[in-house]
Amino acid sequence: MAPEETRTPAAQAGQGSQGTSTGSEVEATSRAFTPARLIDQLAERGFGIADHFVDDALLAGLRDRCLELNAAGDLRPAKVGRGANERLAPEVRGDFISWLQAPERDAEQRLLAKLDALRAELNRALMAGLHDYQGHFAIYPSGASYARHFDRLVGSDVRAISAALYLNADWRPEHGGQLRIYTGGGSCEDVMPQGGRLVAFLSDRFEHEVLPATRERLSFTGWFRRRPLEGFV
Ligand code: OGA
Ligand code: MN
Repeated sequence: MAPEETRTPAAQAGQGSQGTSTGSEVEATSRAFTPARLIDQLAERGFGIADHFVDDALLAGLRDRCLELNAAGDLRPAKVGRGANERLAPEVRGDFISWLQAPERDAEQRLLAKLDALRAELNRALMAGLHDYQGHFAIYPSGASYARHFDRLVGSDVRAISAALYLNADWRPEHGGQLRIYTGGGSCEDVMPQGGRLVAFLSDRFEHEVLPATRERLSFTGWFRRRPLEGFV
């Protein structure tokens, strides 16, 4: 059997640029973001990958903003752990982040509006009960990684669906930096962090890691959240 035939649709979606030229063109069209397509993937297998979540102008605006924050020294080394255990551990997690609290730029506003529209679609289609989205810009310097982990914090069920948007232009397989999603039974899916690509997955279901890249890797990453259950019991 040819290697392509053993790959799942998800693997093809994540690595379209490795396909044949005609094949990847077809895939590029079929992977283009629509809420329905992403929701179908989430419902069927718990994660989804979609390209062109934002148009090229917005993508460039977000990339510029991320680089501007970095140049201004506003990206901070990301920490691991929680509460008293919170600490810097660059060998576990080597990215630099800036939380987006109040949008200051048009590009940030537009991204949050798009994520909020997606949140409404997810709630309608999956009755997901998502309350908001919390996210940060992130830069992984060349060689940095994030070891295998769950996004859901211990003792909290607030993070429901993780969603990352990649911001680099012209990412190629040889640059590395894939998001590796562990799908169970010793299997995994590698997603190339190509600009405009959105990956979303159920936060409590998939361990994942960020592999080191040979170039700076830019993203906007976060979580659709539910209200804490404690409030209702
Ligand atoms: C995270 C994370 C994935 C990625 O920030 O928790 O897993 O592909 N990011 O950047
Ligand atoms: Mn994560």
